[in-house]
Amino acid sequence: MLTLERAHQLLQQHLGANEALRKHSLATGAIMKALAAKFGEPVADWEALGILHDLDFELTRDTPARHALETVAWLRPEGVPEPYLEAIRAHNEATGAVRQDRLSHALAAAESITGLVMACTMVLPDRQIASVKASSLRKRMKEKAFARNVSREAIMECETIGIPLDEFIVLSLAAMAPLQDVLITRAAAA
Ligand SMILES: [Fe+2]
Repeated sequence: MLTLERAHQLLQQHLGANEALRKHSLATGAIMKALAAKFGEPVADWEALGILHDLDFELTRDTPARHALETVAWLRPEGVPEPYLEAIRAHNEATGAVRQDRLSHALAAAESITGLVMACTMVLPDRQIASVKASSLRKRMKEKAFARNVSREAIMECETIGIPLDEFIVLSLAAMAPLQDVLITRAAAA
């Protein structure tokens, strides 16, 4: 597996110009790290997977069925093991891949809940991730119009891997809160 340092380098190289995607990737990495710790899996490797999963997003903007496949092609020569490549492929259902293992479900759930955490943060007066209540995020899950692009079904895959939704929400908020200054720009703060 490549190092976290290399993962950050690749993120900068491919998504450095896309601030939103870069933040989404870092947030996904943070949640994957927390999930790995919970499962007793390699934390740095899971964090790297989160950071790297959308690497080809810019390149495949007009060819959504190719999204994730280019990333896999870039990462294989970097020594990223097959289960990690499979999780990347499977996070985009348009590739035809089906999520079958814990790593894949974890990635899908993690990358999806980041959008909801960000949206819940941005509607708060202080725009602090630490101020988002688990109960309000849970309520927002049921509001289809709120952060409508966030797949609630993918978030619910946390339960497929044995983590109740409430626990997953708490874990995700705790994982993202330390990235406050990276994820929420000061200029945007009230
Ligand atoms: Fe993503």
